[in-house]
Amino acid sequence: MKIKKICCIGAGYVGGPTMAVIAQKCPDIKVTVVDMNANRIAAWNDENVENIPIYEPGLSDIVAEARGRNLFFSTNVDQAIEEADMIFISVNTPTKTYGVGKGKAADLKYIELCARQIARVAKTDKIVVEKSTLPVRTATAIKDILDHTGNGVKFQILSNPEFLAEGTAVPDLVAPDRVLIGGDTTPEGKEAIAKLVEVYANWVPQERILTTNVWSSELSKLTANAFLAQRVSSINAMSELCEKTGADVNEVARAIGMDTRIGSKFLKASVGFGGSCFQKDILNLVYIAQSYGLKEVADYWEQVIIMNDHQKRRFATNIIKTLYNTVSGKKIAFLGWAFKKDTNDTRESAAIYVADDLLAEQANIAVYDPKVKASQIQFDLKELGSRTDAENEVLVTVTDSVYDTCKEAHAIAILTEWDEFKTYDWQRIYDNMQKPAFVFDGRNLLDREALEKIGFVYQGIGK
Ligand code: NAD
Ligand code: UGA
Repeated sequence: MKIKKICCIGAGYVGGPTMAVIAQKCPDIKVTVVDMNANRIAAWNDENVENIPIYEPGLSDIVAEARGRNLFFSTNVDQAIEEADMIFISVNTPTKTYGVGKGKAADLKYIELCARQIARVAKTDKIVVEKSTLPVRTATAIKDILDHTGNGVKFQILSNPEFLAEGTAVPDLVAPDRVLIGGDTTPEGKEAIAKLVEVYANWVPQERILTTNVWSSELSKLTANAFLAQRVSSINAMSELCEKTGADVNEVARAIGMDTRIGSKFLKASVGFGGSCFQKDILNLVYIAQSYGLKEVADYWEQVIIMNDHQKRRFATNIIKTLYNTVSGKKIAFLGWAFKKDTNDTRESAAIYVADDLLAEQANIAVYDPKVKASQIQFDLKELGSRTDAENEVLVTVTDSVYDTCKEAHAIAILTEWDEFKTYDWQRIYDNMQKPAFVFDGRNLLDREALEKIGFVYQGIGK
């Protein structure tokens, strides 16, 4: 029997876009996305589709097409579980902030809650799909809970990790490099895999749908993120060496990237990687390796994070040093707060940590980001717990005009590579700044020659 009804628990950055695309591509399947966060669900259901809670180019059109037809957003988790043949778990799996594994292991409490809720509610056989990124062997824990507390119904657990990147979620989902599905090697496991393959085959070519055992699938997701992040830390490590030697990191990246064995992607030196997953997933990998006693493996991957922290810190330190060793009372303009362009997501954004270091030196920070709200910026700083909310509110201002943000500033720091930053009237910005007017380009985004011609003192990364 074909899958007719899908439920997805978790209407976040993965659950929302992933299910929207499944619904668009499979009009015969009813897709219900549920979440316990009523505000988030209300935003997904907002009459004005531009108000959906996640900004991704192209997403609102897809939601507009499918919503109300075969795509539904609801807070009624029980009902959606009961109805569905296939249940995706797409809840958050943050780094643990307490107890054993604090600061490294993945916190699986939300996953376990989902498993227990499914076990309690399900009255018919279900295929449960791990969409969240999980430590290898989590499927055993989910199966244990389902088999021991369930109503005697049969469950198959599949692993189907998501590889989309934010900012390009729609093209990544519509034309994925691959879809990975892991399942049991038993006949029932193979049947469950075949049903999920059938869903994706509505738009993904068969040769791009890869099937493996559950453990390979779970571990491949952590491995993919570790490899991607490792490339960024590797090029960032070289950026520091470039600054000492007169080499230009962009030229080095181009030269090595043309070797087809290395490839050109993910070699952009930056102020450091951010986002909700790279750090969390590597820390989780480190924890898993440590728990198997694999010290060298754990240390190897931990270095990727150590390098990234160093890159963020040295960006802030360089600003302070260049501004004559004091930023106290000086206005520093931040262009960008999101962790990358084309997203409103700020989780683990380098901007947060650079701001924190500058605020510790009593700088005044003015932020402009085309998609991030002031309340989110204040929330991110509050989460750090470095100073009171009142202090943050005095020291950090947010405006929706880039020209106001830069007015009277001693320096501009580019934290996100938004395309629109390239199109500004940089002469006008320069004219209204304190002199010398510094630009610290954490994304190597702007045209150095043009800025220097205007009069800016420009510093990029790795140059
Ligand atoms: P998110 O925080 O945006 O969304 C998770 C949602 O799950 C939240 O809205 C939360 O309210 C909801 N939720 C949690 N527990 C629930 C429960 N018991 N019942 C109902 N709803 C519940 O997270 P995300 O960014 O979508 O990430 C989800 C998973 O996907 C994580 O494991 C992450 O590592 C992985 N992932 C994320 C990305 C990405 O780009 N963000 C990409 C690939 C994989
Ligand atoms: C990343 C992966 O690319 C996805 O495949 C994966 O599904 C996802 O994590 C996840 O598991 O959450 P994402 O974090 O959304 O996606 O965005 P990336 O494009 O990977 O960028 C991550 C960070 O690295 C950003 O801060 C970005 O600016 C930085 N980066 C990326 C660089 O500094 N240099 C580069 O060359 C590439």
